[in-house]
Amino acid sequence: SHLLLVNGPNLNLLGSREPGIYGHQSLAAIESALTGEAVILGHRLSCFQSNHEGALVDRIQQAAVEGVDAIIINPGAYTHTSIALRDALVAVNLPFVEVHLSNVYAREPFRQHSYLSDKAAGVIVGFGPAGYRLALQALHERLRPAL
Ligand code: DQA
Repeated sequence: SHLLLVNGPNLNLLGSREPGIYGHQSLAAIESALTGEAVILGHRLSCFQSNHEGALVDRIQQAAVEGVDAIIINPGAYTHTSIALRDALVAVNLPFVEVHLSNVYAREPFRQHSYLSDKAAGVIVGFGPAGYRLALQALHERLRPAL
């Protein structure tokens, strides 16, 4: 299958941004490791990061045109604010997994509401960069034709 990894605002700073919360791995390192894992599982992974809400909406819309089968998304702070991202994900009607590196439920109350979670296939929070791998594994099992 063709999968799309989407990362939202400030995730380009991974590795240097609040490493106590988000870890020491850069986004480039996470993306290349996940691309390798995807290939091992027989998938293709495209990666996209933007600090701009509209660019993220555009990329999600484009995914449908390109024949992407499922999306892994860490929307960053837009998780808690963006009806536009929610609408885009619902519009393209692709299964998606919402990932948060940190345990958002152990942080400020404003991080405990997501505009996406009730539309997600599943949500993975609090496992750091491993969360992306867990999301990939979950989609792999979900997309795999029944044996
Ligand atoms: C985050 C959690 C969000 O609340 C925050 O705004 C982020 C990162 C995470 O991965 O833990 O930018 O999505």
